[in-house]
Order: sequence, then structure tokens, then C-alpha cells
Amino acid sequence: MREGSAPLIRREDYAAPAFWIKTVDLTFDLDPAKTLVINKMTVAPNPALPGAPLRLDGEDINLTRVLVDGEPVSFRTEGGQLVLENLPQQPFNLEIRSTCAPEKNTQLSGLYTSSGGFFTQCEALGFRRITYFLDRPDVMATYKVTLKADQRKYPVLLSNGNLVEEGKLDGGKHFAVWEDPHPKPCYLFALVAADLVRREQRIRTRAGRDHLLQIYVRAGDLDKTEHAMNSLIASIAWDEARFGLSLDLERFMVVAVSDFNMGAMENKGLNIFNTKFVLANPATATDVDFGNVESVVAHEYFHNWTGNRVTCRDWFQLSLKEGLTVFRDQQFSQDMAGSPSARAVKRIEDVRTLRQLQFPEDAGPMAHPVRPDSYLAIDNFYTATVYEKGAEVVRMMHTLVGDEGFAQGMALYFERHDGQAVTCDDFAQAIADANPDSELAKRLDAFKRWYAQAGTPRVKVDGVYDAANQIYTLTLSQSCVATPGQPVKAPVVIPVAMGLVAPDGRQLNLHFEGQLASVGHNTVLVLSEPEQAFTFVHVPVEPVPSLLRGFSAPVVLEAELSDDALFTLLSHDQDPFNRWEAAQKLSLRRLLAAVAGSGHVELDARFVEALRGVLRHPELDAAFKELVLTLPSEAYVAEQLDLVDPQRIHAAREGMRLQFAHALHEDWAWAYEQHHELGGYSPDPVSTGRRALANLALGMLVLDGSVRHNPVWTGKALQRFQDANNMTDRLGALSALVNAHAEQAEQALAHFHQQFRGEALVIDKWFSLQALAPEKDGKVFARAKALMLHPDFTLRTPNRARSLLMALCQSNPAAFHRTDAAGYVFWADRVIEIDGINPQLAARLARAMDHWRRLAEPYRTAAREALSRVAARTELSDDVREIVTRALQD
Ligand code: TRP
Ligand code: ZN
Repeated sequence: MREGSAPLIRREDYAAPAFWIKTVDLTFDLDPAKTLVINKMTVAPNPALPGAPLRLDGEDINLTRVLVDGEPVSFRTEGGQLVLENLPQQPFNLEIRSTCAPEKNTQLSGLYTSSGGFFTQCEALGFRRITYFLDRPDVMATYKVTLKADQRKYPVLLSNGNLVEEGKLDGGKHFAVWEDPHPKPCYLFALVAADLVRREQRIRTRAGRDHLLQIYVRAGDLDKTEHAMNSLIASIAWDEARFGLSLDLERFMVVAVSDFNMGAMENKGLNIFNTKFVLANPATATDVDFGNVESVVAHEYFHNWTGNRVTCRDWFQLSLKEGLTVFRDQQFSQDMAGSPSARAVKRIEDVRTLRQLQFPEDAGPMAHPVRPDSYLAIDNFYTATVYEKGAEVVRMMHTLVGDEGFAQGMALYFERHDGQAVTCDDFAQAIADANPDSELAKRLDAFKRWYAQAGTPRVKVDGVYDAANQIYTLTLSQSCVATPGQPVKAPVVIPVAMGLVAPDGRQLNLHFEGQLASVGHNTVLVLSEPEQAFTFVHVPVEPVPSLLRGFSAPVVLEAELSDDALFTLLSHDQDPFNRWEAAQKLSLRRLLAAVAGSGHVELDARFVEALRGVLRHPELDAAFKELVLTLPSEAYVAEQLDLVDPQRIHAAREGMRLQFAHALHEDWAWAYEQHHELGGYSPDPVSTGRRALANLALGMLVLDGSVRHNPVWTGKALQRFQDANNMTDRLGALSALVNAHAEQAEQALAHFHQQFRGEALVIDKWFSLQALAPEKDGKVFARAKALMLHPDFTLRTPNRARSLLMALCQSNPAAFHRTDAAGYVFWADRVIEIDGINPQLAARLARAMDHWRRLAEPYRTAAREALSRVAARTELSDDVREIVTRALQD
């Protein structure tokens, strides 16, 4: 374990390296206990920095020898680095031999073993755990890799690029040689040596080239690879059609591994995936899983251009590849969804994620700009801010320059920077330069503050109607509160897509003062000053403003609309996002009133009727109905408050859910009967929506039945659980029983475990489901704690650890935040325990306490004590130390 000594790394300290590494020839003699690595490099001094020593990064490896141009040289190690001095001033050969112990690598960074095979993960700083190297993304080299391993145990030997040779060796071993013609930073290096089977397909692309696509999995999982293969083929076609970006490799491989810290990794030509984001079939994966596989496969594939062909100069630029690639995968998934309404559903889901993860991050101790200024452990900055807010920043550029302009900007970006390691500024500059007359180009410096400033801007809206002159004036103002290290914020450029809706539901023509013609029903206001007024003429009635349509900017909108106005938007807005948003606001208003007041929601008939109207609506899609009828999460409610009492929020929300369940009983029954499917399974948006709505309805019906001691729906759910022909419906029925704390849940849970005991990803669901149930009398917490002792539980497999611990500590506030502090004690013990195994994973769990300062007493004091106990440990990884010290900082 790295121990607390790393210095803070600052963006402003960036300097070019003193040497470049041009070619790398790696030989691996693979053995779980002791793998020998021979690394032969050609190194060229940077003429700008003559005479500087060469400092190579290394971590947890045993160095055995160093040769310069074939001769052994003396060397020293300093702070983990290998330092070589008095080197030739011309290009030279450097050979380094070292060994490492993959089976002891529980961090899953570098070379490690999983289910008896070898796998690597090098982003961000894993390559230094394999060999000494200039482990930074601006050093790009071509690689030749020779793998040697026992043929029987590791029949498949893979690395980046093309297979150039393979054969047998003595002693039951075999070898393979791979060459990657594309220069790459070492974080994109990968190797796999394991006993795997594959699905493969040959394709010919629009560009007329032939490619071999392969997906490697363990023997029992081949029947779960069809969806990933289809997603990959669709991604390749999409990037060609949309951006003219073709696959630049003869062979593109995807490998699934069950021990993995994150979702997946875009290693050049050899993507390595967490099994959770590759494997899917109807019996074991839910609709949500199918959607995730599609978007993660696309995300990693899109990195082949945005990330790999053009990479990051340094890790502060991470959003250059991640924000852009998330934007691309979101656009792809929307296009795959097809209909306007299915596209809106995807957008609403993305915004929900942003608000649930990124907004709280921006409001807490880990707040950081999309392009951070400093870090202790870069792994801690693979965040919702860098990914999701980064994607919103790219989306705003897209909004400001249009679809065509954005495509031209992308073309210019590749024309300028293909093969380079660049910065976020370079990207924004390319988009702006390709669109010189756009609002983006005109205000580029102000726009780029989105990269530099942390915190979620707030936009206040004031609308004034002058009936006599039929003039409507919208005044928008922006502000952003201080975040750690950034006391003052400058205004940013905020595109506000909008329209005006008449009280009777008509969309009004938008006619700006001083202009000859109207611009139609939709426009984008560009707010770049602290305050700006926009005046519309020929407005026949006092309108309801529909602002931030499609969530055109990652801001909090404070529009103070009346209930009347929100009801108008809910039933009539042409923008489905704002219809959903109106329902969220109406729910939120009621929830917040209850939390601030009696603790209890008294649902008004008008609201109930409006939701009944949505549920019974003859034209709206089921998927959209499900989103509208799902109440804002407890985390989102907490987000709105300065002082958070998680138990009070839980009680109010559960109370409201119960009333909905009862008041709409007949309607839920109707919805269930109308939407639950009996036929074959297909993961398309329409069937997915129908299942989502049917399962929401079933949950409500079982909940209502269980409080009223009416067993009818519990029985139906049990039946459904047994008969379901797909995991979405089986899990939906099981959740309905578990979430209602129905008696029959125990038996169903036991049956489910028995039925799926060989399927790791399904057993993860079994753990999560129990840890996510709505808390009732401390039962959920007690059960989660007991599940730690279950024979299937282990902290060593991140998926399994997360399925129980993240579910409890991060996603179930009412089970976690207890007045007796037991949740925090449990959290601290687990963070410490996991830190000894896998610091990256421990640091993710550590973040569950990010918001302790906003907690009410007695939570706050107890949370601080738990944090302080972790922070006081002498043996703490940099990863966890960074999270807990930031949390405790004033
Ligand atoms: N680049 C990966 C992505 O596409 C992220 C990633 C995968 C990662 N594995 C990691 C980041 C391990 C840090 C550590 O999102
Ligand atoms: Zn990525």
C-alpha cells in the first residue's frame, strides 16, 4: 500500500518531460507469484531540457537490472522513482528488468489475477506497477509485446494491436507477439492471459474496410454476449455516420473480467470491461443493465478517437476525453432510442443522474472544476463532475453552435490534434474556430469558465407581463456560491432554451423586441452577464415561461412558478423534459413543505388528479409516465435543504408514496393490467417502458396492500416473481415484495438466491436489493450488516462490495443515517478494512460521508467522529486520506 506521503500535484506545475520514450518492447513471463517483465525502450532526450536526469515512475515492483545501450549502469531510487544520470545526449536504448506478484495485487491497478487469469488496468497510474516508465499521458510510444505463459492454464494471450506471431515453447508454455502501430500513452496498454471463449464477427464498414470484432468471456457466459456485440457494431456505424470517424484497427477486442474497479477501460484495440457492463441476457440482466451495456460499450468504443487518437496532455485534462466521450455516448443512446419521446426519456434519466451525483458533489467538500487544479490521488477525480458535468459543458457548446457546427468543430479538432496529447482549451478553441460567428466564439473566454469554476450556478428568473402593450419581459440573473478554494465566481455563459406557453396550453410565437419576425415556438437565450433582460412583443396573454428546455445548462433554475403555472406545463408543454420537471417541482414543493412543517404530506386532490391524468393518458409513453410518477429521491430532496434530517425526509417521502399508492389504487391496477407483458422479451424502448411502468404499479399495489392487510397483490407479485420470463420482471416483483416488507419476501429471496447461485452478477442484485429496501425500524440496516457474514460476500471483488456497501451507505440514507450512529461506525470500519485491500474502492466508499456538515444533530457530531477516526489512522492510502481530510477541512 502507498502510504500517506504523496505531495499535492498542481496543474500549474505542468512541465514537458526531459525525455521521450519512442518505442517499447515488452516481454512478460507470466506467473501469478512472480512475473518477469523485460522492458526495452528507445529513449530520446528532450533537446529543450539538456542534461536533466531521467526519473522513471515505479510502484510495488522489484527492480533487477538496468542497461543503457546494453551496458549495466548505476542507478538510485528516490521517492519510488528510478533516477538515471549522465545519460547520452542522443537517442539510446534502455532496458529494465523487474518482477511483480500479480496474485498479491488486490488493488486491481497494474497487472493482477482474477479467476485464475491475468488482466491489466493502467489508467490512470497503473503502468508504473508493471515496469519503470514515464507514466504520464503526454509520453506516447509504439509497443511490441511478447507474452509467455502456461498454455493449458492461459490458452488466450492478448495485447493491443495486431497478432504478429504465436507458437509453442518448452515446458508446456506458449507465446504470442502483438504489435500496436498507433503510438499511445502507457495508460492505454493492456494484456490478458486467461482461459476464455469468444464471440466474434467480421464486419465491413462504410469506409469499405474489413474488421474482426471479438468479445472474450469465461466459458459459461457466451450466451450473454450478443447484446454487447450488437451495441459495438451499432457504435462503429454511428461514429462513421455522425462524425466520419472510422475504426482504425483490423481487430477490435473486448474482454470481460469480474474483478474491476470501474465500469470499463478503453485500452487501444483491447477494451477491458467489468462483466456488469458486457454480459446481458434476458434471464439474468434487467432492462437497465441492457441500456448500460449499450452505453458503456459505445463509450469505450468512442474513446478510440476521443481519448486514444487525441489524448490528454496531463491528468487535469481528464474531462477532455471523458466529458466529450460521455456526451457522445449520450447522443448515441438517444439516437438508438429513436422516437422523440424515447429520446426525452434518456435525457431525463441523464439529468436525474447529474442532479443526484454531480450537484451534491459541487456543493460539498469534493467540489472541483471540470478541469481540476490539484489532486493528491488522481483516481479520486474520476468523478461525476469530470464525466457528467464535463458532458454538459460539451452539450452547451453543441447547443451554441448547432449540430452541423459541432460536427465541423470535431473535424477541425482532429485535423489539428490527431496523434497529440492536448488540453481542454484546445478542444474549446477548435469548436469555436470552426464556428467563428457563433455565440461560443464571441464569448469563448467567459464560456471556458465552465472548465475553471466549481459549483452549480443558480439562475433566477423574473417574468413581468405588460397586458396593455402585450409585452413580456424575462429577467435572468446568475450567481454561484463559493466552493473550497474559490471564494468568488465570475459569470459563465448559460444557454437557456425556452418557449412561452399560454394558460390554455398553446405554444406562443416568440417575437423579440426590435426584430421583424418571430423565431417560432423555441429559442435559446444566452445569459452571459450577471443579469440580462429579454423582451418579447405581441404576447397576447400572460404566458407561463418554459425555461431550460431539455435541461440546456447544468444550473439550478429558480423560477418560483405558481402551482397553476406548473400544472399548465405538466399538461401542455411541448418540451417533454419540462413536463417531467413540472411534476418533479410539484412533488418537491409538497415534500419540502412536509419536511419543514408537520412532517406529513397531505396530498391535494388537484395534484392527485394531475398525476392520475398522466397515468391514464392515452398518448404518453409508458416510459415517460414512469418517470413522471416516480417521486424525487431522498438525496434530491436533501439537496434542496441547508439542514438535513435524513429520517424526516424518509418519513415524509414514504408517507407521500403511501398516499399515492392508495389514492391511485384503481389506476395502478389498471396500469399493471395494461402494461405487464407476457410475451417474448426484447430490450427496446417501448417494451422497456411498459415493464418499468408495470413494475412501478406493482410496487405501489403491494405497498398499499401490505398496509391494509390485503393479500391480493402480494399474491399476484409472488406469482409474477415465479412466472416471469425475464430478469426485469422477476426482480420487479421481488422488489415489490421486499420493499413493502411483505412476509412472503423471505421465501422469495431464498428462492432467488438458490436459483441464481452460479451467476455472480445476479447475486450482486440479490445483495443490493436487500440493502436498498426502504428502512423500517432499523431492519434494513441490521440485515445489511448480517449480510457481510454471508458466505457469498467478499470485499475483494468490487462489484460484490459495492452491491452491499455502496447500496447501504451511499444510496439508502434512511438506513445509513441513524440516531445511534451505528451506520457511521460501520462505515468507518469498512473504509479502514477495504483500504488495506483496495484503496480506490475504499475512497469511493469514504465519499458516503461527503455531506456530513449539512446534517442535523445528532447525525452531524457522530459523522464527524467517524470521519476523524478514519483520518487519525497512520496507515492510510493517499486515496482515502484525500477524501477524509477534504471532508474535515474548514
Ligand atoms: N477511462 C475509463 C472510462 O472510460 C475509466 C476507468 C476504467 C478508470 N478503469 C479505471 C479510471 C481505473 C481509473 C481507474 O471511463
Ligand atoms: Zn471514459
